[in-house]
Amino acid sequence: MKQNTNVILIGFMGSGKTSVGEQLASQLLFTFKDTDHLIEEQVGNTIKHVFETKGEAYFRDLETDLLKRLLHEYKETILSSGGGVPVREENRKLLRELGTVIYLRASKETLLQRLRGDQTRPLLQGASLEAKINQLLQDREVIYQETSHIQIDTDYKSINEIVSEICQSLEV
Ligand code: S3P
Repeated sequence: MKQNTNVILIGFMGSGKTSVGEQLASQLLFTFKDTDHLIEEQVGNTIKHVFETKGEAYFRDLETDLLKRLLHEYKETILSSGGGVPVREENRKLLRELGTVIYLRASKETLLQRLRGDQTRPLLQGASLEAKINQLLQDREVIYQETSHIQIDTDYKSINEIVSEICQSLEV
């Protein structure tokens, strides 16, 4: 892995970006950051509240603005990105400019298990969680694949196993 580089984790909600990212950062002695947390800090409220009061488009603009700022600020950082970040073409380019992009892939079944009962993610509220996950995954799978430099299957793996696989792929 190049010196001073960043590692960006992308993937569906519930794919483990935050837990994996935190552990990877402590192992590599990198800083850990999370786009959702950075946005919540910036607006002083939750993502759920932003969606409810300002709408999704406003939130997506905050994500793009954030990536643009980070581009000049970050080095040796593990960035966990919200599941919708790569959906905008402009963001895909920014993510790849920021560093090595890793897609944490999880199956529908795993995601359904992990996301059942979640009340924090606006896109998953209301009836039929399964249908929502199916639809969003169908729309996004190719995008995650194409945005990433490295893909890691996470089903049935512990966080430790996923982190070691990432380290092997990054050759660190
Ligand atoms: C979203 C994913 C969430 C958060 C927001 C929208 C998405 O982040 O940014 O609820 O569109 O997939 P996580 O992937 O960290 O849950």
